[in-house]
Amino acid sequence: MSFRFNFSFEDLDLSDHEINDHKVVKEEFEIVDLLQAASLEEKTNEIPTSSFIAPTEIVISPLSLKLPESFIAETIEINSTLKESLSSSPSTLYKRHLSDIKCQIALDDDDPMEEHEDSSNIKKNQNLFDVMVESDLIKGVYEGGFKTWECSLDLVDYLAGRGINIDSLKVLELGCGSGLPGIYILTREKSARVDFQDYNEQVIKLVTIPNILLNTSLRPQATDIDNQGIAQVNVANNESVIREMCKRSRFFAGDWNGLVDALDIKSEKEKYDLILTSETIYNENSIEKLYNVIKNVLKRPNGVVLVSSKTMYFGVGGGILPFRQLVERDNMFDVEVVYTVTSHLRREILEMRFVGR
Ligand SMILES: C[S@@+](CC[C@H](N)C(=O)[O-])C[C@H]1O[C@@H](n2cnc3c(N)ncnc32)[C@H](O)[C@@H]1O
Repeated sequence: MSFRFNFSFEDLDLSDHEINDHKVVKEEFEIVDLLQAASLEEKTNEIPTSSFIAPTEIVISPLSLKLPESFIAETIEINSTLKESLSSSPSTLYKRHLSDIKCQIALDDDDPMEEHEDSSNIKKNQNLFDVMVESDLIKGVYEGGFKTWECSLDLVDYLAGRGINIDSLKVLELGCGSGLPGIYILTREKSARVDFQDYNEQVIKLVTIPNILLNTSLRPQATDIDNQGIAQVNVANNESVIREMCKRSRFFAGDWNGLVDALDIKSEKEKYDLILTSETIYNENSIEKLYNVIKNVLKRPNGVVLVSSKTMYFGVGGGILPFRQLVERDNMFDVEVVYTVTSHLRREILEMRFVGR
C-alpha cells in the first residue's frame, strides 16, 4: 500500500467507500500494473506489496558502480540551534538533486540499479522511480529513502551542536536514505568509519553514495555553486573516489530482519560505537525488527544510539511512544529525550545507552 506521511485518511479527504477500496494485493510486485496505470495516484494504489527484501551487503567497486559524468547537488546549511557548535564542524552539506537521479536513470544504458539490463527494464525503473518519488512509501517495496526527511536534519543539527568525541568511532546509520547524519560524521572526523543501510539498493546507489561523494572527495568548490546554492560537480577519476569511499564505509540493503547476520560481526570489538537512525520508527510492525538490530550490534558498554523521529505518525501506528515502550520493556537501555522541536508535528531525538552507563 502506498502511503504519505503526516496525512491521515481524513486529511486526504477520501470517502469511506474510497478508503475501503484501497487495494493491498499480497503478491509479487508487478511493474506492468504501473506502466498501464493512467495516473500516478492509480499507479501507487495498484502496487501490490512484496513480502520482504532479504538483507545483504552491497559490495561496491569501480566495476559494480558506474558513476555519471557529473552530479547536480543542492546545498544544506547547518545552522545548529544548539549552543556548543564546534568550529571544526562543516557548516554546509550537499545532497544530490532528485532531478539529477531521474536524469541518470533516463540516460544511463548501464543503469546502476541493475547490471546488464535491457531497455524495457530501464523504462520500468523510470516508472518505479516516478512512483517512488511521488509516494512517501510503498510498504514492502519502497520505504521512503529517496527523500530527505526533516528528522535527519534534526539529527545533523544535534550532532553539530554536541561536543562528542567521534574520533575513530565506528558508526552505523540504519534506514539511511540520503544518509546526511552519517555523512556529517564522515565529514567532521576523518578517522571515523560509517556504514549505511537502506531498505532499497537503488537508494544506496543513486542517493546515499552520491551524497557521500558530494561531501567528501567530490565536495563542490565555491565556483561550482550558483547563487541558488545549486552545484554541478564533475566526476573525475571515478575509480579512486570509489576506492577511497570504500575504505571508510560499507553498504547494506534489505529488511532489518536478518540484517544482524548480513553485518557479519564476529566480536564485540567489531560492533558499532554509535548507531544513528532517522524517521524509521513510523511503522509499529517494524520497530521490533529495528530494535533487534540495535541491541545486537551496539558495542558494550559505551555504545550510544540516537533515534530521531516525529513524536507520532498518523495512520501507521509508529512513533516515539510505542518505540520507547518497547525499549523500556526490555530493560536493556536507559532512554532520554535529548532534543525536541515543537512545530505542528512535534519531533524528538531519543538517546539510548546500556543500563547503568
Ligand atoms: C522515511 S525513510 C527515512 C530516510 C532517512 N533516514 C531520512 O530521515 O531522510 C525510512 C527509511 O527506513 C528504512 N526502512 C523502513 N522500514 C524498513 C525495514 N523494514 N527494513 C529495513 N529498512 C527499513 C528505509 O530504508 C527508509 O529509507
